[in-house]
Amino acid sequence: MLDKLKEIEQSALDALKSVNDQASLDAWRVAHLGRSSSLMQVFSGLGLLSKEERPAVGQAANKVKIALEAALAERTEAVKAAALAKSLEEEELDVTLPGRGVRVGRLHPSTQQLRRVVEIFAEMGFQVYTSREVETDEINYQALNFPPHHPARELQDTLYIDAGERGDNPILLRTHTSPGQIRAMREASTEHPDDPPPIRIVLPGMCFRSEQITARSEVQFNQVEGLAVGENITFADLKGSLSDFARRMFGQNVRTRFRASYFPFTEPSAEMDVECFVCGGKGCAVCKQSGWLEILGCGMVHPLVLENGGYDPRRYTGYAFGMGPERQLMLRYKINDIRYFWGNDVRFLEQF
Ligand code: DAH
Repeated sequence: MLDKLKEIEQSALDALKSVNDQASLDAWRVAHLGRSSSLMQVFSGLGLLSKEERPAVGQAANKVKIALEAALAERTEAVKAAALAKSLEEEELDVTLPGRGVRVGRLHPSTQQLRRVVEIFAEMGFQVYTSREVETDEINYQALNFPPHHPARELQDTLYIDAGERGDNPILLRTHTSPGQIRAMREASTEHPDDPPPIRIVLPGMCFRSEQITARSEVQFNQVEGLAVGENITFADLKGSLSDFARRMFGQNVRTRFRASYFPFTEPSAEMDVECFVCGGKGCAVCKQSGWLEILGCGMVHPLVLENGGYDPRRYTGYAFGMGPERQLMLRYKINDIRYFWGNDVRFLEQF
């Protein structure tokens, strides 16, 4: 019996050598491991053997079965590999290969916040006015009532462009979006000098200052400026529109307050605070225990600025405001270092 098992194993293994495709693999399995195979008949005949013979034959039959199954598995792999190699050689397209993943990008967090701000003002009827990043001293400062050598310039020094001798009117990178106010007003009043149209615009964009780069200050940052000019525009319009903006941006129940401030190009000037949306006004580290967060500067457009824009201050009034989207994001998400915004670290950017 043991010899017969050897023979069964040998002839099965010999037969396997000529098996080269899936169909013959299946046929081989039926013939050599199937119910009516010689090997299985040995198992079913075990009962007829003597007590002494039975364990040895049973063990030997099991060994053969395990050996044949292993040989079958090995052959199956070889047949598959050969089939793949053959199809790779014959066909150019391997539809079984997994595809390459597509990395989905997104807008920079500053751009997202800029767009949120702009969207809210768009709903209130403001249009977007895009102004230049490279400005003259005249438009960036003088027309906004910062005369040459005025101390208010100390707050916003910038990067100058070497453009030859220009006296008191050098070319510079704008320090704020406010010079766009002058450009927009001049454009409208040049077209209609006797009857300039009302203006309602927001001006988003990058600003530059000569700053020591720290966790709190960068040499570049975004601002969104706003300007409304017309007849009979009052401080009540300013308060109403900006409070409405705060509610739409930070939540319907958010409280706001206006504090007197100073800017050369507005009179009177104010800063608007919103109730701290981190602690709800109770006082926390973000609002430095005050319960309030300063989010923008604003005021009634100074008569000299209206005049510099070609609008007669005896007939027209207006209000203006300026805010920083990076600052808003820092407050909202407790970002403690402004340098993340231009650091190009995807681990930061991917969170937005
Ligand atoms: N330009 C100011 C700054 O960069 C912000 C600002 C304040 C703009 C008051 C305004 C305004 O239009 O009315 O600090």
